[in-house]
Amino acid sequence: MTTRWVFDANVAANFDSIAQSQIPNYDGVIGRCIELARTQFPQKPNATIIDVGSACGRTVTRLIDAGFTNVWGVESSQHMAAASAHPDRIIVSERFPVDKAPFDMVIANWTLHFIPTREDYMRDIFTALQPGGLFVFSDRMQGSQTSYLRYLDFKRSKGVSEADIKAKEAALAGVLEPRPLTWYQRTLHSIGFSDIEVIDAAWCFNTLMCRKPCA
Ligand SMILES: C[S@@+](CC[C@H](N)C(=O)[O-])C[C@H]1O[C@@H](n2cnc3c(N)ncnc32)[C@H](O)[C@@H]1O
Repeated sequence: MTTRWVFDANVAANFDSIAQSQIPNYDGVIGRCIELARTQFPQKPNATIIDVGSACGRTVTRLIDAGFTNVWGVESSQHMAAASAHPDRIIVSERFPVDKAPFDMVIANWTLHFIPTREDYMRDIFTALQPGGLFVFSDRMQGSQTSYLRYLDFKRSKGVSEADIKAKEAALAGVLEPRPLTWYQRTLHSIGFSDIEVIDAAWCFNTLMCRKPCA
């Protein structure tokens, strides 16, 4: 019987090793987000930054280590929020916290692909951003069979067994829903974002950066 993937206490307890072995360039992408925050807000340590799907708080920690003081997370899973390195900074919610707006920067790495209504979620992010604010996110997207097979090779290279690869792919069916890169580009554009660029890509995973235009 296939077990449907959930972010439960077991996943929370093992999240770091799951992320490192299942997400290509996990630390590199987070590093790129920190680099962007540092270069966008060099004189603004109190820039308001929120990490969507903050999981165990790795990005929040790295933003704080980079000197940012006004850093938040939003998490739909009570288990993940409780396991966060910064539970006091985490808003537990399935919806984007528009009531806490405005934000200078929104980060959403490897989370939107779990949200069926992700266009509405991205629209809320747009509404909540300051004019000129930055939105950076990563998702697993639809790729060619060639990319998909390389992604499975990536997992093998991290020591994931064939049985675990099969079980995880089955558990994610209907939970993580990849869409094409072109869907994201079109949707971001129709919402009103500008400067839409791919800033990292590896085997079905893409990281995009875009901006809410200045008024
Ligand atoms: C793969 S993890 C994200 C990893 C994290 N961004 C990082 O850098 O370590 C996906 C997270 O998104 C959360 N999530 C799923 N749906 C969500 C929603 N609607 N709102 C907020 N968080 C959500 C899950 O509970 C899970 O912790």
